[in-house]
Amino acid sequence: MKKITVAIDGFSSTGKSTLAKQLAKELEYVYVDTGAMYRAVAYYAMQNQLIGSDFFDKIALIQALPKIQLEFKFNADLGFGEMYLNDENVEKQIRTIEVSNFVSKVAEISEVRSKLVEQQQEMGKNKAIVMDGRDIGTVVFPDAELKIFMTASAETRAQRRFDELQQKGDDVSYEDVLKNVVERDYIDTHRADSPLVIADDAIEIDNSYLNREEQFAAVLELINDVV
Ligand code: C5P
Repeated sequence: MKKITVAIDGFSSTGKSTLAKQLAKELEYVYVDTGAMYRAVAYYAMQNQLIGSDFFDKIALIQALPKIQLEFKFNADLGFGEMYLNDENVEKQIRTIEVSNFVSKVAEISEVRSKLVEQQQEMGKNKAIVMDGRDIGTVVFPDAELKIFMTASAETRAQRRFDELQQKGDDVSYEDVLKNVVERDYIDTHRADSPLVIADDAIEIDNSYLNREEQFAAVLELINDVV
């Protein structure tokens, strides 16, 4: 069977990463969560007081980029790579609502994007990869054999994210999560560099009413048509 590149893009909390992980496991492909990379850069900016609720020193962040080393290290128990920032496992730290509140501002910066896109293209150069994000089918791998674009209503997505955060013991309100989802959608679709748009050749899946199994089966069928 030929090895392909599967690009999964879409709005936040549409279940992209759950689907991508399932697919990677089934196909024995590498899974790359590009959102984790943008989140790690945002976390670095927060830790170094470069971004806060009323300030953002973009120049300092751009200057610091050579010092930001990102790496996925495979965790055999989990079956996928975890995000390391300068050799520190930051998986937990990057999933907080605070990071979610800053990440889209960090992801608007072209210098940040070009550094991360270059690393993503390197990771996928041998194919056999499932990568999820916002610009995978449009910018990172415009030649991907299969492009999926996932959508769901903002309320459905906020409820999912809220449930996830609550399970982890994060003290957040549904309203705050919904506000964050709507704000990120706005910034991600309106930024000048690589805005979130559906690629012409992407297949759109609205999963508001699809459960995980139905969605997985549908995409697996699409993959079987390509390989
Ligand atoms: O996928 P996730 O919700 O973790 O992504 C966090 C944020 O990172 C997005 O809201 C977006 O601003 C940014 N991002 C991006 N391009 C990607 C992946 C994520 O701009 N390929």
